[in-house]
Amino acid sequence: MEVRPTTTNNNILVVGAGAMGSQIAMTAALAGYATTVHDLSRTQLDDAAAALRKRTDKMVQSGKLAADDAEAAHARLQFSTDLEAVAPPADFVIEAATERLDIKREIFATLGHLTPRHAILATNSSTLGSSKVAEASGRPAQVCNMHFFNPALVMECVEVVQHPGTSQATVDTTMSLARSMGKSPVLINREVPGFIANRLMGAVQKEALALLAGGVASKDDIDATAKQALRHPMGPFELMDLVGLDVIDDIARATHAQTGDPADAPNEAVLALVREGKLGRKSGAGWYTYG
Ligand code: CAA
Repeated sequence: MEVRPTTTNNNILVVGAGAMGSQIAMTAALAGYATTVHDLSRTQLDDAAAALRKRTDKMVQSGKLAADDAEAAHARLQFSTDLEAVAPPADFVIEAATERLDIKREIFATLGHLTPRHAILATNSSTLGSSKVAEASGRPAQVCNMHFFNPALVMECVEVVQHPGTSQATVDTTMSLARSMGKSPVLINREVPGFIANRLMGAVQKEALALLAGGVASKDDIDATAKQALRHPMGPFELMDLVGLDVIDDIARATHAQTGDPADAPNEAVLALVREGKLGRKSGAGWYTYG
C-alpha cells in the first residue's frame, strides 16, 4: 500500500477513543485522511468528539488552524462502535486500545479477518512490542508499533518500531504516513523495553522520585529545576500527571517484567497515588490538584 500524503484516498482506522486514539485520529484527519475512530463505548466516542471539537476551536482561536480546514477535518472524521462496518475499507489501522495483551491480541485477530489484505496494522503501544500481536493478525509482516506521544496533536515524535518479521514495505509506509501527518518519526529496528522515549523519561522520573523520597527537595522545586535548568517543557511530576499515574505504573511493570532490573521496579509512591484513585490530570488530582 502506498500512503499518499494529504489525500483523502487512504482510509485510516483508529481503534480506541481514549486520549491517545482520539488525538491520533484528529491528527490524521487534519492531514487529509478519511479517518474513523472505533470504540466499543458510545459515551467514550461522544466524549472524544466533544474534546476534539474543543481542541480545534482553540487552534482556530489561536490562529494555528483556519476555520475552513477545521471543518473539513471534522467532516473527514467518523466515530463508530461497529468494527465490522468500519474495518473493511481501512488501509491503515492504528490500535490505541487498553494496554492489555489479551485485548490487543483479540483486536488484531479481528482486524486480520475484517481489513483488506493490504492493510497495515500498527499498535500505539509503548510497552508491548508488536511481535506479541503480530501472529494473531495472520499477517505478521504488516504489523509494527507506531508510538505517538501525549498530547498527540502537539508532539512531533513518533517511534516506529519493527519486530523481527516486519517487512521493509511496512516500515517505509508507516514512516511515510507519520511524516504525512506532520510528525518526525524515528525508526527503532528492534523491540527494546521502553523504546527510546520511555527509557529516557523513566530515567529522569526515577531520579526525581528518589530525590523526593530522600527529602532532598520538594516536587515543586524538582519540577522547577527540570524546567529552568534543563529546559524541559514540564517537570517530571507534572509529566507523570499528564501521562497518567496508572499508565506510568503500567509502563514500569511492563519494563520491569522485560528487564528484570530492580531499578525498573514500580515505584511505591506512584502506586500509593494510583490506589487512592489519584491518576493525574484526567482524575483531577495526582502529584498536583487540577481545577
Ligand atoms: N492536547 C492537545 N493540545 C494541547 C494539550 C493537550 N492536552 N495541552 C496543550 N496543548 C496545546 C495548546 O492548546 C497550545 O496550542 P496553541 O499554541 O495552538 O494554543 C500548545 O499545546 C501549547 O500549550 P500551552 O501554551 O497551554 O502550554 P505549554 O506551552 O506548556 O505546552 C505541552 C503544553 C505541549 C503539553 C508541553 O508542556 C509539553 O510539551 N510537555 C511535555 C509533554 C511530553 O513530554 N509528552 C510525552 C509524554 S510520554 C508519552 O506520551 C509516551 C508514553 O508512552 C506514555
